[in-house]
Amino acid sequence: MENKHCVLVSGGAGYIGSHTAVELVEAGFDVVIADNLSNSDISAVEGVRRITGVDVQFVDVDCCDRAAFDRLFDDYGFDSAIHFAAYKAVGESVSDPMKYYRNNLGSFMNLVDLMRAHGRRNILFSSSATVYGEADTLPVTELSPRKPATSPYGNTKQMCEDILRDSVKAYDSLRGIALRYFNPIGAHPSALIGELPRGVPQNLVPYITQTAAGIRECLSIFGNDYPTPDGSCLRDYIDIVDLAKAHVAALRRMIGGGGERYEVFNIGTGRPVSVFELVETFERVNGVSVNRKVAPRRAGDVVAVWADTSLANRELGWRAERSLDDTLRSAWAWEKHVRGME
Ligand code: NAD
Ligand code: UD1
Repeated sequence: MENKHCVLVSGGAGYIGSHTAVELVEAGFDVVIADNLSNSDISAVEGVRRITGVDVQFVDVDCCDRAAFDRLFDDYGFDSAIHFAAYKAVGESVSDPMKYYRNNLGSFMNLVDLMRAHGRRNILFSSSATVYGEADTLPVTELSPRKPATSPYGNTKQMCEDILRDSVKAYDSLRGIALRYFNPIGAHPSALIGELPRGVPQNLVPYITQTAAGIRECLSIFGNDYPTPDGSCLRDYIDIVDLAKAHVAALRRMIGGGGERYEVFNIGTGRPVSVFELVETFERVNGVSVNRKVAPRRAGDVVAVWADTSLANRELGWRAERSLDDTLRSAWAWEKHVRGME
């Protein structure tokens, strides 16, 4: 029997990692999830197992603990790693920057070092559209300039991209791809995995679903006086399963040896959607209402950002497929599942 290619998914119990683990298994890969559950729950791993019918391996490890992470490399023969393990709360990164630099840089530097030390090859890194800041021209392409980061979180994304680029350049044995995600939303169609924010959600869609579920009283729409068609900000909301599939496509490219040794791809839909449009679409497709009010602008928000996805479409043979309607139905189905609403 042919050996399956094994993939380490660090941070794989989290929102994007768990959906990616499902798509990897369904594409025929062996998966090892490594996570310290600092921002996730073991139920996500159980969800991955239920969806795939495969007893996906899970290791409880802090990627910042170099000795423990090293042992994981001894124990598992993966040749590729997808690194999701990071903290992601922008506001918290401003008030506690060292927490972010230590975890996001420390875990990634350990990964890169250990991949090299153990002779493993392919590294896929979770970057973000935040690297573009307030772009001068839209949509942004991978050649659009990165803007100085406005938060320590955003800075860790830029720094990790640079660490990967420089390491691949210096060490012939490594290959790297950074995927710049736009705004991931929604949940798996099974409603067995989805986003599990701790405390008050900072992101728009979980705030909408929790308001619709009666957990939050009222959604604040941060600003209706931006220079956009309806005055609210524009973003590129990408379905979580489509995003997960982009990882499979990027991994296949690295394994197959196509392209340059270090590459960057935008992963979005290419379509800008306003905050008002998103809320109204959520209400329409789910037949529920979302109590809302207009509130002042949120500090640090960019007016508009959306992706030119032609590079990923062409080179990865990937494109976003799920409609916004279906994605927002899945977000609501997941919220209801979490709350035991049906
Ligand atoms: P998440 O918090 O749901 O997942 C991250 C996972 O990493 C969690 O399960 C957490 O427990 C784990 N983790 C954190 N530090 C760890 C460590 N030191 N050792 C082991 N495990 C650790 O977040 P997510 O939304 O799935 O994001 C995944 C990645 O994608 C992050 O790097 C994030 O910055 C990046 N990203 C996310 C978004 C988004 O909107 N969700 C957008 C752009 C980029
Ligand atoms: C935010 C982060 C970004 C990070 C991404 C994913 C900031 C400034 N940016 O992106 O770095 O990569 O999350 O974690 O925090 N909105 C409301 N009401 C709400 C919540 C949001 O109106 O209660 C609006 C925001 O103003 C924004 C849009 O909804 O216009 C999307 O917000 P959000 O989901 O937080 O994502 P980003 O700000 O795009």
